[in-house]
Amino acid sequence: MKILLLFALFLSLPTSADSYQNIVIQEFGGPEVLEFLTRDSLPEPGPGEVRLRVLTASASFTDVMVRKGQYGGAPSEPPLVPGYDLVGVIDKLGPGVKNFELDQRVAALTVWGAYTEYAVRPTTHLVPVPEGLGDEAAVALILSYTTAYQMLHRVAQVSEGQSILIHGASGAVGSALAQLGQVAGLNMVGTASTRKQGYVRSLGVHPIDYQTEDFVSRARELTGGTGVDAAFDAIGLDNFKRSYEALNASGELVLYGFYTATLAGEAGSMSSLIGEFLGMKWQQLLWNWFPDDNKTTKFYSIEDTRTAHPDWFREDLTTLFELADSGQITPNIWKTLPLGDAAVAHRYIEEHAVKGKIVLRVSE
Ligand SMILES: NC(=O)c1ccc[n+]([C@@H]2O[C@H](COP(=O)([O-])OP(=O)(O)OC[C@H]3O[C@@H](n4cnc5c(N)ncnc54)[C@H](OP(=O)(O)O)[C@@H]3O)[C@@H](O)[C@H]2O)c1
Repeated sequence: MKILLLFALFLSLPTSADSYQNIVIQEFGGPEVLEFLTRDSLPEPGPGEVRLRVLTASASFTDVMVRKGQYGGAPSEPPLVPGYDLVGVIDKLGPGVKNFELDQRVAALTVWGAYTEYAVRPTTHLVPVPEGLGDEAAVALILSYTTAYQMLHRVAQVSEGQSILIHGASGAVGSALAQLGQVAGLNMVGTASTRKQGYVRSLGVHPIDYQTEDFVSRARELTGGTGVDAAFDAIGLDNFKRSYEALNASGELVLYGFYTATLAGEAGSMSSLIGEFLGMKWQQLLWNWFPDDNKTTKFYSIEDTRTAHPDWFREDLTTLFELADSGQITPNIWKTLPLGDAAVAHRYIEEHAVKGKIVLRVSE
């Protein structure tokens, strides 16, 4: 009888209710460093913060950079929880929080820290998710679509009928640029590998095979010899120069990443290079590098843009939610995997297998 009573007492202990899991990187490296860990107690929100029960996160190329220690916006030393964006339900309000309520569904750009069952975020970083929009669609819009939207409308300020060149048009940001470019009435050409030509065409983009074709001459041909009004390039230094050649006389080049250098770099080896470019030195480099003509070159970073214009981030993500909620766009989700398969998702990304976005389901 005593044993039975003790067993019943053990079952009623509250510890498991307060524990939760997240994915932690103990050292920078390959996908195998993404490990599930159990935490003993839930995080507590401070003043102006809320605790979220996370529903979905996404797996992105930027998370791969964080995992490899190549991303300046994340801690330079592990341990750390990766994950650039999430959708969650508010399950506890911190002291003084008035503008959000319990059970409300919200989105957040976390930069790191989204691969978790529970997270604490400041309310200034939250954007409400409309009731009719699914958790998976909503999370797919945060990093990749906001990047695409802001580059199109805040940086290049495109207008209907203009032509653009999208590099990596099959990827998460590239396919978002394509979809939003269609909504804006743009003529689009885009680079992709041979096997993804059909997918890029299905997005309303004239595909250029970067493995077999010269994209500069093809982009010029496809725009009647003049070149494009704007080019969006996150591929790498050699590509940037060629994209500049593909512009028309007053075209704009928008740079937003260093894909090939990142992919080639060993864990921990690229942080100073990327940090240098993401700092102010890139400007100097680009001004010296590109000729003095009527073309322009700008660098975009979602994190820096949000820091400088937090209102833009909230407005633009709200606009994207409305576009999706009203059926004007449908986020390009390639696969949804459970959070525990984050390593599988990272492998897909590094093998160039993905078309669009990978979503991670954290809880229902
Ligand atoms: N600045 C910012 O705020 C910001 C925000 C988000 C992302 N980014 C950057 O944007 C880049 C793309 O991110 P993502 O999430 O879209 O990655 P992604 O989903 O992995 O897509 C990138 C795609 O580029 C294609 N690609 C590879 N080499 C190429 C080449 N030489 N020419 C043309 N396409 C090539 C690959 O497809 P195929 O080779 O199979 O065609 C790949 O799927 C990354 O460098 C990321 O760091 C920057």
